[in-house]
Amino acid sequence: MKHLLDMGHLDAMQIHHLLDLTDHMVEINQRPMPKVPALRGKTVVNLFFEDSTRTRTSFDTAARRLSADVMNFAVSSSSVNKGESLRDTIETITAMGVDAFVVRHASSGAPHQITQWTTASIVNAGDGWHQHPTQALLDCYTIRTRLNRTTGFDGLHIAIVGDIKHSRVARSDVQAFNALGARVTLVAPPTLLPPDISTWPVEVSHDLDGLIGSLDVLYLLRMQRERMRDALVPSLREYTTLYGLTPARAARLQEHALVMHPGPMNRGVEMAVDPAELPGSTVLHQVANGVAVRMAVLFELLGSGGEMTADTAADSPDPSQAGPRS
Ligand code: CP
Repeated sequence: MKHLLDMGHLDAMQIHHLLDLTDHMVEINQRPMPKVPALRGKTVVNLFFEDSTRTRTSFDTAARRLSADVMNFAVSSSSVNKGESLRDTIETITAMGVDAFVVRHASSGAPHQITQWTTASIVNAGDGWHQHPTQALLDCYTIRTRLNRTTGFDGLHIAIVGDIKHSRVARSDVQAFNALGARVTLVAPPTLLPPDISTWPVEVSHDLDGLIGSLDVLYLLRMQRERMRDALVPSLREYTTLYGLTPARAARLQEHALVMHPGPMNRGVEMAVDPAELPGSTVLHQVANGVAVRMAVLFELLGSGGEMTADTAADSPDPSQAGPRS
């Protein structure tokens, strides 16, 4: 694997391989000194043209735990503000000698375009409405570990609820969950479904109450008001009434069912209960798993062919290099 751009490029075997590699990274993260020399000498650049809390900090932490050098490119104080093109930015940073760019961009396809301008590996950290592959991998890892599904998701029913139309997470998760064998139902008002929904490998419902009691995973999406050009729901209160996770709906979930959200969440809108009070909430597990999954992705792209060896998995010999625990 040279790049990670799109979940559609990974088959079930490749997804399982990355999730198995994530198991090793979780073990490293549980050590008193969670740092290994696997990517010593490699340089990773975080290039975020859109805001991020989780993805940016977890890639930063992941790269440092593997002993890579990390450059954080601050768009707001860069020559992008003087009109520098994306191509010139990429070619300039490439000339400094880098091994991977982690790219978030508001334009769908930007990470793919960047592969044409650099010899470095590109990891898509979210592009427009298009893809967010590491979110899908961390979601798969969370389901796999919480529901003990090491061999696949056959027989699991997963509902993804909310603003599907604007969601790169939904597009990536549908591909990943489908590849691993889950039954996926999208639940949304018609205005929040994409026009090509009939071509997706999913069922569609407008009735959350009709299926909530049979779900293994309830995956709530954020209402992406910044991407909506029109009022696509009559009011947020009506949206919550029909599609939000209210206390009454939470009470109807199966005992083992997981409640997931990629964050950031709109409390009181799609999440109308406190996730901390839900036994099945995995929101913070998703965040913690994000570090390990991103370690696995960086190691797969930049390490020694995806095999953790005694050398690469050994503790860092320099205790002062140990990073903080998540
Ligand atoms: N889930 C996610 O991508 O969150 P951030 O926008 O905070 O990175």
